[in-house]
Amino acid sequence: MASRTTFTIVAVLLSVFLYFYLDAHVPEPFPQKFKLKIMDAFMKTYGHVMSGMTSLGLIEYFSAADRKIGDWFILTMTTGFPWGSGVDSRLQITDTKLRDVRVKIYQPANSLGKKKRPVLVYFHGGGWSLLSADCYDPIMRKISRESEVVVISVDYRLSPQHPFPVPLNDCFDVVEYVLDNSDTLGVDSSRVAIGGDSAGGNMAAAISLRLQKRIALQLVLVPVLQIINWQTTGYMENVLYLNKSINSPNSLVFLTNYLNLSPAYAHQFLINNHTSPEFKKSKYFDSVDQKKWMPKKYVRTKDLWENIEYKKDFGNQELFKKVEGYLKEPLISPLIADDETLSGLPFTYIMTCGYDFIRDDGIMFHEKLKYLNVKTELAHYPEGFHNALMFPHGPLKMDIGVKIIADINSSGTEVIDSKGKAAILNEQYDSVFTDEDMNTMPSLGKATSTT
Ligand SMILES: *[C@@H]1O[C@H](CO)[C@@H](O)[C@H](O)[C@H]1NC(C)=O
Ligand SMILES: *[C@@H]1O[C@H](CO)[C@@H](O)[C@H](O)[C@H]1NC(C)=O
Ligand SMILES: *[C@@H]1O[C@H](CO)[C@@H](O)[C@H](O)[C@H]1NC(C)=O
Repeated sequence: MASRTTFTIVAVLLSVFLYFYLDAHVPEPFPQKFKLKIMDAFMKTYGHVMSGMTSLGLIEYFSAADRKIGDWFILTMTTGFPWGSGVDSRLQITDTKLRDVRVKIYQPANSLGKKKRPVLVYFHGGGWSLLSADCYDPIMRKISRESEVVVISVDYRLSPQHPFPVPLNDCFDVVEYVLDNSDTLGVDSSRVAIGGDSAGGNMAAAISLRLQKRIALQLVLVPVLQIINWQTTGYMENVLYLNKSINSPNSLVFLTNYLNLSPAYAHQFLINNHTSPEFKKSKYFDSVDQKKWMPKKYVRTKDLWENIEYKKDFGNQELFKKVEGYLKEPLISPLIADDETLSGLPFTYIMTCGYDFIRDDGIMFHEKLKYLNVKTELAHYPEGFHNALMFPHGPLKMDIGVKIIADINSSGTEVIDSKGKAAILNEQYDSVFTDEDMNTMPSLGKATSTT
């Protein structure tokens, strides 16, 4: 009898706890709400674990241990296990270094031994501060397998220990190595794609500004593309959802990490107090003006768009002096690059999600590139959220994740058809690979020795 009462009390407490804990402010139109709530709960749990452990002095934010725990949470959500996926006979996966930068290389098994293969160099997300090539392993496997492309996933160094431009330079070095050593790698230097999500999308766009059409295709996924205006319609609409996890205003700390600033400034960025009144009237601000570059159709709250009006008479001069150089730097805000540079960009596939608080950057980039006649495609998912691309499989598999990855797969075919060349993604190797091939293939580890 007593145990039954205990059981009832525990069950009631647990359901009250879950009710509040799973209270994620999930967008109403989202079809698989329960899975989204679990995702939100996972991320909140990571946050609570970290704040608990830091207040006990057991761990520090953005330490190796913090990052390891973050990876475990992501891998558990995406594969069901904190250690990730096991062996996959359809891929040869190599951990190595290219120009001293750690990378994971994925080669479709049936492409081994072939020359001139298309290749995708990928930069993971995580606000330049968290996550790793290891925790992106499931998604990289999926893209390599399904799009039959060699994938090089870059484990660039992270902030705040390594602020701008270190993460960007690591990524750039790998891309340049791939372009210059295509024979060694057995890839086609005219079919080098680069891509990334979130902070990774930011760096992909920055690298394309430098390498222009040496890149054949860039995948710019849920990117941050400017750091000038944070009071965007995307921010204002979406900070109401998932705002203790993926849309948390605290994410601005990732930016202060990247810019080598105290996290105490994060809030100043959020309210646009980091720009001076003069800067707010400059050409830089014009290039992120939403009235000009953000089509109303993507904004759910039409009133919000109609009433966009920027107050320009405020700003923290002291902070502005510290960050002025960064604010004028296109390698940090690719959206502000000049028209001539942007005009030289390769085919740009942009993916944005409706419930992402950095939704607008990608959309504005697409508009700007269209205006400049750059070939670009926008895949916008009104019901999507910032990290939806991580869930095309695993226990939290969601239709939106499946669709995003399938659409990325098709993106590389279209662009190349117009050039009359073979596709970048989707080589469609005919030969079926055997275990014997795998044993006779030279190991890619040899490509490490570079200078
Ligand atoms: C990827 O795209 C190619 C070409 O459009 C298609 O043939 C292939 O079936 C796609 N793969 C998947 C897994 O959808
Ligand atoms: C988070 O969302 C809730 C509900 O939509 C809202 O009341 C709250 O103000 C939001 N928090 C922030 C920091 O905007
Ligand atoms: C913006 O910066 C100014 C100058 O430092 C400061 O006085 C003001 O309080 C800041 N505004 C907010 C809302 O924090």
